[in-house]
Amino acid sequence: MDYKSTYAAWQADPEAFWMEAARAIDWDRAPTRALDDSHAPLYEWFTDGMVNTCWNAVDRHVAAGRGDQVAVIHDSPVTDSRQHLTYAELRTRVARLAGALAARGVVKGDRVIIYMPMVPEALEAMLACARIGAVHSVVFGGFAANELAVRIDDCRPKAILAASCGIEPARVVAYKPLLDGAIEQARHKPDFCVILQREQQVAALVAGRDTDWHEFQQGAAPADCLPVEGNHPAYILYTSGTTGAPKGVVRPTAGHIVALNWSMGAVYGVGIGDVFWAASDVGWVVGHSYICYAPLIAGCTTIVFEGKPVGTPDASTFWRVIAEHGVKSFFTAPTAIRAVKRDDPKAELVAQYDLSGLQALFLAGERADPDTIQWAERALNRPVIDHWWQTETGWPIAANPLGLGLLPVKLGSPCVPMPGYDVQVLDEGGHPLPPGKLGAIAVKLPLPPGTLPTLWNAEDRFRKSYLAHFPGYYETGDAGYVDEDGYLYIMARTDDVINVAGHRLSTGGMEEVLAGHPDVAECAVIGISDALKGQSPLGFLCLNKGSDRDHADVVRECVALMRDRIGPVADFKRACVVDRLPKTRSGKILRATMVCIADGAAFKMPATIDDPAILDEIRAALQQIGLARNAGA
Ligand code: COA
Ligand code: AMP
Repeated sequence: MDYKSTYAAWQADPEAFWMEAARAIDWDRAPTRALDDSHAPLYEWFTDGMVNTCWNAVDRHVAAGRGDQVAVIHDSPVTDSRQHLTYAELRTRVARLAGALAARGVVKGDRVIIYMPMVPEALEAMLACARIGAVHSVVFGGFAANELAVRIDDCRPKAILAASCGIEPARVVAYKPLLDGAIEQARHKPDFCVILQREQQVAALVAGRDTDWHEFQQGAAPADCLPVEGNHPAYILYTSGTTGAPKGVVRPTAGHIVALNWSMGAVYGVGIGDVFWAASDVGWVVGHSYICYAPLIAGCTTIVFEGKPVGTPDASTFWRVIAEHGVKSFFTAPTAIRAVKRDDPKAELVAQYDLSGLQALFLAGERADPDTIQWAERALNRPVIDHWWQTETGWPIAANPLGLGLLPVKLGSPCVPMPGYDVQVLDEGGHPLPPGKLGAIAVKLPLPPGTLPTLWNAEDRFRKSYLAHFPGYYETGDAGYVDEDGYLYIMARTDDVINVAGHRLSTGGMEEVLAGHPDVAECAVIGISDALKGQSPLGFLCLNKGSDRDHADVVRECVALMRDRIGPVADFKRACVVDRLPKTRSGKILRATMVCIADGAAFKMPATIDDPAILDEIRAALQQIGLARNAGA
C-alpha cells in the first residue's frame, strides 16, 4: 500500500487500522479494542491487552530461531572497541539483570533511573526494567547533578543504575560524583545503586548503597517476562518545558510497541535482519525509540555508537560505521551533518567507503535547513528524509515514508502526516487556517498509540500545557504552515523552548538559574541563530543597583553556574550585561525582538514597546561581544 491509501485507510477506520497493526505484536492477552476514550480528552490504547515489551524486543526473536542474529553492535571510537551481542546473548544478560533487580525488591510499577553513557548495558538496563514491569527513566549524561536530583525527586526511583563515567572526546566525564551529589541533594533516596565500572575511571562505591554491576548479578535467577496491561507506563522521559521543572513524558506500553513496530517498516523501510542506526543518545527520545526499542521490536540489528560525528577521529566516522556494519537506514540530527560538512565540505571522505547497503538518511530533532539536505543528497546520492516529531509523541508525526514509497521531496518540509495524526494549523482562536498561512500546529485528538497519555504526577500540567489552549486538539508547541499539497513546514516554537544541536532546552529554566546569581537583578535568555548548532543560548543580565562588580567576572560566573546547575549540555557560553531589558508597557520582555537584533534580521518595532531607545543599548551590548554586526533594522 502506498502512503495515500494507507493514510486514507487510517482516516476511514482508525480502530481497524491500529488493530491490524497490533497483529504484528506478541500479546499475552490480545486486546479486544484499540482506543479507550472513556476518559476523553485523555485517551489510552489497547487497555485490555496484556503484553511485555522485552518479550517483543528480545525473546520472541530467539523463540523464532533468530537467537544467533546480532541484536546490538557497540561501536565505540572513543574507547577504540567494538562488541557484538546476539539476540540470545542479549536475552541471557537482560533476564539476569532483571532477576537481580527483582531479587532486590524491584516490582512492577517501581521506578528505576538509568544514568549511563552509550554502552550496551544502558539498553540492557532499559529492557530489564521492561521485563519485570518496572518503569525506567533514563537521564542524559550531559546533565548536571541538580537536574538529576530534580528527576529523582519527581519519579522517586527505588534503584539507580549508572556507569562510573562517560567518555567525551576531550575528557572522561565522571558520572559517579554527579550521581552522589544528586542523591545528596534530592529529598528522595533510592534504596540502592548499581554501578557499571568502566576502566577509564573506576568509581568509589558507597558502602551499603552501591553495588558493582557484575557482583549485583552474580547468582541471580533469570527473570521471566511479566505481562502488563496495555496502558502500563513503559517509561518516563523528562523533557524541557517553559519552566525549569522538566515535564515527565509517560510512554504507554502497548501503543509504544505497536506504533514503533509499524514505523520501522512504513517510515524507515527496514525489517527483520536489517541493520538500523540512529546516531543519538539513549538519554533522548530518539535513543529510546530508535536505538533501543523500535529496531529490536522489529528484529533489526541496532548500533550503539559511542562517539561524535567529528573528532572521533574525524568526519569520516559516520561513513565508516555505515560501511563496516552494513547500515541500511541511518538517522541523525541535522546539526551532526552540518558538523561533518564543516570538516569535509567537498564530501571527499564519503568516497573512501562502500555505502552500497545504505538506502536513506533520516534527519530529525530540529529544522533541517535546505543547504544541509542538499549537501547530504549530493554526498550520499541517496534520499535524505527530514521528519518531524517530539519526545511527547515518541515516533514521527510527519515523514516521507520510505517503506510506503517515497513522495517527492520538498526542501524545508518534513513532508506529510503519518497515519494517526490529523495535523491542523490553527489561528489564535483555534480555527483551522488555509494552506500557506502560518499558525500554531496542533493535532486533532486522540493522538495515536504510543504517544503520551499524560505527564508523570502532573495531569493538570498535561491538560494545561497541551490540551487547554485549543480544545479538541493537542498543541505541539511548534508553529508553521501546510502547503497546497498537504506538506508541513515547521518554522519555530511558540514557547520558550530552544533547540541547541538537536537538544531541547528551556530558556525559562536557564533564566531561573541566572536569577539565582547574587548580583543578577533581572535577566533574559534567548536562542540566537548558530550555523552549526541551529540555535545557541545567549543571556542578558541586569545587575543589582549600585553593583560595582566587573561585568566580565559576572558573565564568567554565570556561565559556570549554568554548567553546574543544568550541565554542559546547555552549552551556555555567552552573556552580556545591560542596564535594562526591552519590555512592553505591561512589562513583558521582548525576547523575539532581541533575537532579531542579535541575528541581524529585520523586525517591526513592537507597538507596545515601553522605550524604543533600549533596543539601541541592546544592539550596542551585542556588538561588543561580536554579535548584531549587520543589524540595521
Ligand atoms: N555526557 C557528558 N557531557 C556531554 C555529553 C554526555 N553524554 N554529551 C555532550 N556533553 C558535553 C560536551 O562535552 C560539551 O561540553 P564542553 O562544553 O565541555 O565542550 C557540551 O556537552 C556540549 O556538547 P555537544 O552539544 O555535543 O557539542 P559539541 O560542540 O561537543 O559537538 C556536535 C557538536 C554538533 C558534534 C554535537 O552537538 C552532536 O553530535 N550533535 C548531534 C546531536 C544529536 O544527536 N542529538 C540527538 C537528537 S536526534
Ligand atoms: P524533542 O522533544 O527533544 O525531540 O524536540 C522536539 C522539537 O524539536 C519539536 O517540537 C520541534 O520544535 C523540533 N523538531 C524536531 N524535528 C524537527 C524537524 N524535522 N523540523 C523542525 N523542527 C523539528
